[in-house]
Amino acid sequence: MKKIRILLSFVVIIALATMMNSCGNKREPGRTYMPDMAYSRAYEAYAPNNLAKENINYVDYPVEGTIRRGDLFPYPLPNDSAGYAMSAQIKDPLPPLDSTEMKEAGRLFNINCAICHGPNMDAQGPLATGGKIPAVANLTLTQYVNMPVGTMFHSVTYGKNNMGSYASQLSRRQRWMVIQYVKQHQLAVAAGKASATDSTGTK
Ligand code: HEC
Repeated sequence: MKKIRILLSFVVIIALATMMNSCGNKREPGRTYMPDMAYSRAYEAYAPNNLAKENINYVDYPVEGTIRRGDLFPYPLPNDSAGYAMSAQIKDPLPPLDSTEMKEAGRLFNINCAICHGPNMDAQGPLATGGKIPAVANLTLTQYVNMPVGTMFHSVTYGKNNMGSYASQLSRRQRWMVIQYVKQHQLAVAAGKASATDSTGTK
């Protein structure tokens, strides 16, 4: 009986020693059961990742000074009053849109711009009439009908007063497309035959 007790206490001492030893060495993590759960892969919210690169609007180029194949050159003017003044000289780099592209441009306008400017561009969008965004520009007024496309692109790229920048929502090509749509619509309003594109793109 005594022998068994001595043997048992040895076993307990060895077990305790093993347990304490296994916790002691910080450099040796030992075995991890399901490491993917113990060490989860951290993703930074809003950090560029490979998925974002699949996105047509992905604008964060890996090497500074490079552009994607087929993309338009970067807009050269700075976001200040001198840049705004010079923007009138900037020409639309796109050829006139065909009817399919114009439909797409109208769809982009209705998604991004009509919430303030309204589908007819007369500042009757819900954010304007609801008073959430004051002083929304009525793009059917003469001052905007006569506004050079470069200035429009400048304001849509950098934002102006209560209007934010659309550089991250719309690629450079899409911004120019939307501006062609604005210009076409302004001419149609001036000629008295405006018809807004259906925002669902089914018309
Ligand atoms: C959140 C509301 C809002 C949205 C959305 C919006 N705008 Fe505007 N926009 C404004 C306001 C407000 C002004 C008047 C800015 C000023 O001159 O104070 C303005 C002005 C403009 C001007 C005149 C710029 C100038 O230089 O005077 C153009 C062109 C224009 N918007 C086009 C667009 C286009 C195209 C879109 C969509 C890509 C768009 N806006 C989306 C609120 C908006």
